[in-house]
Amino acid sequence: MGAYRDFHRRSIDERAAFWREQAQLIDWREPFAEVLDYSRPPFARWFNGGTTNLCHNAIDRHLATRAGQKALSFISTETGQNRTYTFRDLHAEVNRFAAALGEQGVARGDRVLIYMPMIPEAVFAMLACARIGAVHSVVFGGFASASLASRIDDAQPKVMVTADAGMRGGRAILYKALVDEALRLAQYPPATVVIVNRGIDKDLKTVASRDLDYDSLRDRHMEAKVPITWVESNEPSYILYTSGTTGRPKGVQRDTGGYAVALASSMKHIYCGVPGETMFTTSDIGWVVGHSYIVYGPLIHGMTSVMYEGLPVRPDAGIWWKIVEEHQVNVMFSSPTAARVLKKQDPSYLSKYDLSSLRHLFLAGEPLDEPTHRWMAEAIGKPVIDHYWQTESGWPILSAVHGIERTPIRYGSPSFPVYGYDLKLLRESDGAETAPNEKGVVAIVPPLPPGCMTTVWRDDERFVKTYFSSFRDKLVYSTFDWGIRDQDGYHYILGRTDDVINVAGHRLGTREIEEAVQAHANIAEVAVVGIAHAIKGQIPLAFAVVKDAEKIATSEARDRHELEIMETVDKQLGPIGRPARVHFVAMLPKTRSGKLLRRSIQALAEGRDPGDLTTIEDPGALEQIRLSLQQVRNDS
Ligand code: PRX
Repeated sequence: MGAYRDFHRRSIDERAAFWREQAQLIDWREPFAEVLDYSRPPFARWFNGGTTNLCHNAIDRHLATRAGQKALSFISTETGQNRTYTFRDLHAEVNRFAAALGEQGVARGDRVLIYMPMIPEAVFAMLACARIGAVHSVVFGGFASASLASRIDDAQPKVMVTADAGMRGGRAILYKALVDEALRLAQYPPATVVIVNRGIDKDLKTVASRDLDYDSLRDRHMEAKVPITWVESNEPSYILYTSGTTGRPKGVQRDTGGYAVALASSMKHIYCGVPGETMFTTSDIGWVVGHSYIVYGPLIHGMTSVMYEGLPVRPDAGIWWKIVEEHQVNVMFSSPTAARVLKKQDPSYLSKYDLSSLRHLFLAGEPLDEPTHRWMAEAIGKPVIDHYWQTESGWPILSAVHGIERTPIRYGSPSFPVYGYDLKLLRESDGAETAPNEKGVVAIVPPLPPGCMTTVWRDDERFVKTYFSSFRDKLVYSTFDWGIRDQDGYHYILGRTDDVINVAGHRLGTREIEEAVQAHANIAEVAVVGIAHAIKGQIPLAFAVVKDAEKIATSEARDRHELEIMETVDKQLGPIGRPARVHFVAMLPKTRSGKLLRRSIQALAEGRDPGDLTTIEDPGALEQIRLSLQQVRNDS
């Protein structure tokens, strides 16, 4: 690993010179005065004083050379709609959207909350915000009204953008109805809601003084030319909420210049994309992967981005490979869960289509087990690159960097620290660096490189307290993941150190799910744990203590209650947080100081030893959990 090791070393030892070079990959209006201002650790200000714009870099700067090239190819197997936009078309649509937002009073620094299915208008809305210097906050469509309301209150948007409905597996999800409920719950609802009406919800209800139809707005702005708002590199481009240990989601704040540079650089060195080529990322715009590698990354790099609304197995398990063939996809990015789903399907789908355009497949978002990694690589006959990162980082932390050196891939490993990251594995007890093959907390010595979160939205203190306070005498960023490094420098991620779980690549806080369960009137107390699952990686299980035991006196009543609780979670948090089962117990295992023994419950549920129980208040509580698990196993 000579060439890559040197590249990485230089990114740390000669930080300013290194990033000054990378910064040439994007357009600046005014040059930056300094590469990095690190006068207030751990807050890093990248490319201080420079002015730029994400929308300009994603669209306008390409117009001279690639106006007629496809920028966005939209495919929906849900509605049967396919639409293609060249860079010229995208420019026109984004100008229209920007004009419509401007007309509603959205200005630089204002927030716009986007709650949308996977349709091109979601991308137009994001880029339109960037164009006028507004800050977007995209909320994943799988979140329900109460979660949406808490994000509305935190971001306090001036305008919300939504659609009448989305579709999943042929079933309509009524976005606008969920928005109405969220606005009823919110303390700071926006004055205006812009609705993209797809004609799916035939009974769409609107509020005359608040709701605007996007088509009518667009009609008025067909010829709009909205000038770029040049922003200082450190002005926020977006907020993206993510889960942590507490029930309250954190607004990850991203800057502008650092993000653009990190994305442009990763597109070249990590994803090895070539301008003019096509990238297909199967995530959703509501997640960080969608922000970075459906929207901004490929477009900044002058690539065509494929946007897909639908499931990987519908109409059949060949759909993604059909897209690869038809759209001549060169770079693909998906998730380990998707790979495990495809592994269960008829293998003939993999040989049915011509995949010769595809150079490599990237997977991220959750641990990729070695057998699935190996299977996927052999099945498509291309390198499959596991890479590790987070909402907080915005771009990869661990990866092979094949644009610099073709280091061999080891199955089950996301390879090496990415340039810019001074990554360490630290012993939890004293913060000392671990030896090879010794497990440690994956930590990053600040300053974090360009592109990473700059703070928690409106809460600098929470940023420092959450991420930089794990070790007493050391100011280091904790990823809250366990990792291990082998003697050759290959890294392996072993799961979270906190109470975050990962369901099919969706990051959820167990506290968040517990709060959603507690919204049910008959719940006194609940513990939620994530347990291993063959396809989804993890699934949530709930252990609940009811207030009125009469209500679960018979097995029918218990089943009914279980369903009711699941529906409560669907309504509060969204179906992604729904526990796979709800076990009813008379008490929860706790330490004598009242701390929930979540790890012991998890161990029992996974059939493992519950570990050290010397601090437990009442061993009978664990016995109850064991019995309840046994009961469910016997029933099924
Ligand atoms: O626990 C790690 C896991 O997903 C978390 C971040 O999730 P999210 O914020 O949704 O961002 C996903 C961006 C790809 C991490 O803290 N994770 C992510 N990638 C991997 C992973 N775990 C193991 N291997 C990976 N490649």
